[in-house]
Amino acid sequence: KSDEDLPNRPVRSRHWSYHLPKKPLALCPDIANVAIAPCVIVMVGLPARGKTYMAKKLTRYLNWIGIDTRVFNVGEYRRRATEKYRNHDFFRPDNLEAMDIREKCAADALLDLCNWLRSGGQVAVFDATNTSRTRRHMIYDICTIDNSYKTFFVESVCTDPNIIEANIKEVKITSPDYMEMDKERAVEDFKKRIAHYESIYEPLDEDIDKELSFIKIFNQGEKYLVNRVHGHVQSRVVYYLMNIHVLPKTIYLTRHGETEMNLLGRIGGDGNLSERGRQFAAALGKYVEKENIPHLRVWTSLLKRTIQTAEYIDAPKEHWKALNEIDAGVCDGLTYKEIQEQYPEEFAQRDQDKYHYRYNGGESYQDLVARLEPVIMELERQENVMVICHQAVSRCLLAYFLDKEHDELPYLEVPLHTIIKLHPVAYGCLVENISLKIDAVSTHRARVTPSIPPSHEEHKLQRKSMSDREDYLCQKTGNMCRHFDEGLSLHREGECHNTADGII
Ligand code: ATP
Ligand code: F6P
Repeated sequence: KSDEDLPNRPVRSRHWSYHLPKKPLALCPDIANVAIAPCVIVMVGLPARGKTYMAKKLTRYLNWIGIDTRVFNVGEYRRRATEKYRNHDFFRPDNLEAMDIREKCAADALLDLCNWLRSGGQVAVFDATNTSRTRRHMIYDICTIDNSYKTFFVESVCTDPNIIEANIKEVKITSPDYMEMDKERAVEDFKKRIAHYESIYEPLDEDIDKELSFIKIFNQGEKYLVNRVHGHVQSRVVYYLMNIHVLPKTIYLTRHGETEMNLLGRIGGDGNLSERGRQFAAALGKYVEKENIPHLRVWTSLLKRTIQTAEYIDAPKEHWKALNEIDAGVCDGLTYKEIQEQYPEEFAQRDQDKYHYRYNGGESYQDLVARLEPVIMELERQENVMVICHQAVSRCLLAYFLDKEHDELPYLEVPLHTIIKLHPVAYGCLVENISLKIDAVSTHRARVTPSIPPSHEEHKLQRKSMSDREDYLCQKTGNMCRHFDEGLSLHREGECHNTADGII
């Protein structure tokens, strides 16, 4: 694509003039050895239109399917570059001093983004309003013309004042900008902030921007406009964004009741429930009745133990082959001890890299994630669902909702006879573990050796610090709570929720 292809090409302002290498990057292979050209997803839209929500959710999904993805949120750069937020005046288009800071922050974030892609990242999400055409052309220039990254714009257009008001109340007044402002004043200030952006907003246009690749999402998915989708990543992004919705829902995740095979310590097979497993099935039926969950659907695998577990639940049931337990191939039906004796090298290899290890004639956790992708997509489309599945399968599903690294995924603890209640909220997921208090054997085999290669450990640390997670003390309850991303937290005053890795 030549420079002439883009109309009204702006002259780069001083913040955007980098000496970034012009050489196109080599394709970087993802963990499944599929070559993926680095891609930049650029969010577009007025404040409180769900850009950060979509950016984070998309990033979680792409990481889960094995595409290394990271969000660069310009709001975080702005907060680091400025002193305490005073009011909406900062966002006036005629506030030249503030405008200069905002441009610099966007340019800095874009530079970090390019450096991250150069270091091997695959998809970078540029989360800012990007409401002017000039800004978008600048981004396109740097990403696509200078660096040959594929650029895809995701615009959220929302005209329903009720949705906007609800969004402001859900996430904006709890943001660090408004820590010290009372709620009503914060809502009013945020609306004025939106008005400043509206005065210069140039939405993506079917004609003017016809050369660009983009999706426009209207009123939370009422309507979509999709233009020039190029390649694997962009088509997956479009498919995902067209399937997610924001209606409240709870996913009840549980394993089948204890089985005769579990009592013998044998993996796989298609065994029946034990006596205690049958007690769990009965208790689960009562639990669902008591919870009185609207429009609940129950999904099981095709294996007897999950179907038997669902027996007493009075709700429509569907049986998915995709939910069957990991196929242990030649090891199916053996105990871990027998596997170690009969296949010592393979057993050790599994401990070295459990996520990628594929059983001889069977599957790996990585295979399982690929098999479960349609299940995740359908869970996104649905409302309340109870999923009755298996140890390895529930770890994969849990990792998606809780944004767990692949290295950690095969070791997540999912005890028998426990229901994990997952309630997606604005920037993450609330988690509650409910034990039905019926004893069962433990089938969890802990990590044997700390076998993570240093480079991977470094990568983990990097991801952790980049997502800006931090713990802090909830002033109301005195609990240690977890803040996700620059204080746009899941935690609301007085509400602390137990999660798999602490309290939110
Ligand atoms: P800002 O520009 O101030 O960062 P934003 O556009 O990033 O705002 P978010 O912080 O993501 O807005 O807003 C989160 C809220 O948006 C959530 O309450 C979520 O339910 C809602 N939301 C999610 N998707 C959409 C959408 N497509 N349109 C409108 N609202 C949405
Ligand atoms: O032991 C129960 C079980 O569901 C087996 O059928 C399956 O092979 C195993 O758990 C998966 O757990 P891990 O990956 O830790 O071996």
